[in-house]
Amino acid sequence: MEGFKLFKNGSFVEKIHEYSNQLFLLERNDNVDIMLQTVYKDKLFYLYPSEDPKVLEFIYILRGEIECDQDGQKTMLGPNDYYSARGLKDPVYFIAKTDVTYLWISTEPIFQQLSADSANLRSMVRKVEQKDPYTFRHGERVTINAIKIAKKLNLSTERLLDLDHASELHDLGKINTPIEILNKPGKLTKEEFEIIKKHPSDGANIVLETTYNYIAPIIEQHHERLDGSGYPRGLKGHEILLEAKIIAVADTFDAMTEDRAYRKAFPPQFAMDELKRLSGTHYEPEIVDALEIILKEEGIL
Ligand SMILES: [Fe+2]
Ligand SMILES: [Fe+2]
Repeated sequence: MEGFKLFKNGSFVEKIHEYSNQLFLLERNDNVDIMLQTVYKDKLFYLYPSEDPKVLEFIYILRGEIECDQDGQKTMLGPNDYYSARGLKDPVYFIAKTDVTYLWISTEPIFQQLSADSANLRSMVRKVEQKDPYTFRHGERVTINAIKIAKKLNLSTERLLDLDHASELHDLGKINTPIEILNKPGKLTKEEFEIIKKHPSDGANIVLETTYNYIAPIIEQHHERLDGSGYPRGLKGHEILLEAKIIAVADTFDAMTEDRAYRKAFPPQFAMDELKRLSGTHYEPEIVDALEIILKEEGIL
């Protein structure tokens, strides 16, 4: 029948799959995207104000439960609850309490933008992982511990979300680091280390060009240390963002507990002792303590 289209279960036009969620574009028109999104348990997401005040966003929950955070006021939402936004002034934040699936209708072509940025950044992360097999899923593991630490420290949902993206993409700048340096089995020369030191700023510059530009400062600071001995800027204590300090701890722990080209993995307790030795000089004591509590709770220490 002309003008009529039928779609069977599982059909879609395009799909974005990230480790935190799956987004299907079901149908589109000039100015309307109809999408189905599944966000996985414990992941964070938000509704962001559109530049055009006439744009309508509409979300209808099909399965699962989410917590909505409006300036600290929390509301649980479940199947058949729905919400909409038009002329939104500030972002609204959500946490998936279970895997949650909802229908999402937007009167602006948002899928294309999300798809382009997400595909770009993630394909770069994958390229970095291919260059250095020891970093395979490193971003993902750092993210998991960084979010657990941030929750222990009671960071707001908004900051959790930024941290989530920044942790996953923190080593993106290694896309520019030569493979021979990343995989060198021996000690790096001074010149080689200078090249390694460029990756935080390179990563920040890459995200600046995307919809993820707000996490650029976190990425740039993930190798800064409290006493100013870090890089690229040698920032000290309070000059370093809390999010970057959290990534520093989660990153160091993961790097030590995984095999590297030049050595075998260290046991978790050894890595923790090392973090504690440098607590207060390199790492924020509060953050090191939070990670220790988490690892003990999980029986890893
Ligand atoms: Fe790094
Ligand atoms: Fe890293």
